[in-house]
Amino acid sequence: MTILILDDEPVIRDVLRTVLGKAGFGAVEAGTAAEGLERLASDPVDLLLLDLMLPDRPGLEVLTEVRARWPELPVVVITAYSSVESAIAAMRQGAYHYLPKPFRNDEIVHVVRQALEKRRLVAENRELKARLDGTRGGLGELVGRGATMEKVFDTIRQAANARSTILVVGESGTGKELVARALHRLSPRATGPFVTVNSGSLPPDLLESNLFGHIRGSFTGAVADKRGLFKVADGGTIFFDEIGTIPLETQAKLLRVLQEREFLPVGAVEPIRSDVRVVAATNADLPRFVADGRFREDLYYRLCVITIHLPPLRERKEDIPLLVEALVARAASENGRPVPPVTPAAMKALLDYDWPGNVRELENVLEHALVLGPGVIDAEDLPDAVRHAVPRPTAIPSGGLSLQDAVDGYRRSLLTAALHRAGGVQKKAAELLRLKPTTLNEMLKRHGMLPRDRDDGTKPAR
Ligand SMILES: Nc1ncnc2c1ncn2[C@@H]1O[C@H](COP(=O)(O)OP(=O)(O)OP(=O)(O)O)[C@@H](O)[C@H]1O
Ligand SMILES: [Mg+2]
Repeated sequence: MTILILDDEPVIRDVLRTVLGKAGFGAVEAGTAAEGLERLASDPVDLLLLDLMLPDRPGLEVLTEVRARWPELPVVVITAYSSVESAIAAMRQGAYHYLPKPFRNDEIVHVVRQALEKRRLVAENRELKARLDGTRGGLGELVGRGATMEKVFDTIRQAANARSTILVVGESGTGKELVARALHRLSPRATGPFVTVNSGSLPPDLLESNLFGHIRGSFTGAVADKRGLFKVADGGTIFFDEIGTIPLETQAKLLRVLQEREFLPVGAVEPIRSDVRVVAATNADLPRFVADGRFREDLYYRLCVITIHLPPLRERKEDIPLLVEALVARAASENGRPVPPVTPAAMKALLDYDWPGNVRELENVLEHALVLGPGVIDAEDLPDAVRHAVPRPTAIPSGGLSLQDAVDGYRRSLLTAALHRAGGVQKKAAELLRLKPTTLNEMLKRHGMLPRDRDDGTKPAR
């Protein structure tokens, strides 16, 4: 810590330097205002001891200049002129403390320590606040501020340190992969690999050789040894993107890895060990799969020890404004565009809509509006299904409501959701809604939800 002593009397400077030196502070000295300001500009100084009686300039004027040029620098004012006025004036200008001469040695050391401590606290507070601001409303890439997501964030923080397997459950597009990544990043394995397994359409043989690796010559085409993903992920996290699609026979092997922490590459006789943390995600109803005999019960219980439920977006609409802000900013930067404002009408439509495709659908809708829109995101730039969304009230507002409109809105959002689930195939959507395909088609027509009723050619189910 270096203290600048700005006083015209050499004797006082000597005394101060000695006293402060004994207390462990370094000191530099100046005898005039000009010299003092020069010193401040050239040397790093942590605190200024300022005598208000200087030969070349009024002390208060010097104080003003110091406050303006080095606003963070703590200043302790000392003067033989212990007039109340100058003390008050000095305090007003932001001097931390005022000491009348003559002062006791321990007094000056005490005041200097206090002033430095105060500066430290101010700096620390500012840093803390910046950090809080940065994390408020989210965890890593995950945005959200409502009570539901806060609870999810808490579970992620707590579970990250453990090694236990984690099951992330939620509809498509709710952010399951982001949760898996957050778990990895907050864990002691963060520097290790994060490996994603998309088991989706792979036949069991290929899936197993991917997961566990194989020995050269173990089957036709196995021309060399191959490391499995479980080995690749050693020391890190392995993420099963859709655990519900793993075939039963592979499930048995997976259970073994979870229990024994070792596995057998295809064609090998010696098992291999690997230190991995397993995170599994699903949008399927696994208990139902278990009941149907499509998923092993023992594996299910092994997986669900810690379960993180990601609620669908329609159940946490309080997150929508923050998500819109974050997703629009992200899309803008990815597309090299300025961040467009979102009009209140557009925001209202976004809040009213039910988002069967969850955050992914919101992300797509916003990106579409940003890229094709006029630099502002207005209700017109949103797909029909979103624009015509009608809120689904559960209580009658004081002014009453139109039952017809409310039911229409509900019907429309269910039609949208069914089409979404059916991948846009009307016949399948009709089945899901227990309707005849012709009836569904009629309804879509009536609600203006058929592609040919739209002018921009996008799919109605968005
Ligand atoms: N809370 C969130 N904050 C910011 N972006 C999010 C959030 N949730 C989801 N997203 C974004 O939405 C998209 C879908 O998320 P993600 O891939 O994690 O969903 P998912 O649940 O794995 O879906 P699926 O079941 O279809 O695989 C991603 O682009 C992701 O960045
Ligand atoms: Mg996913």
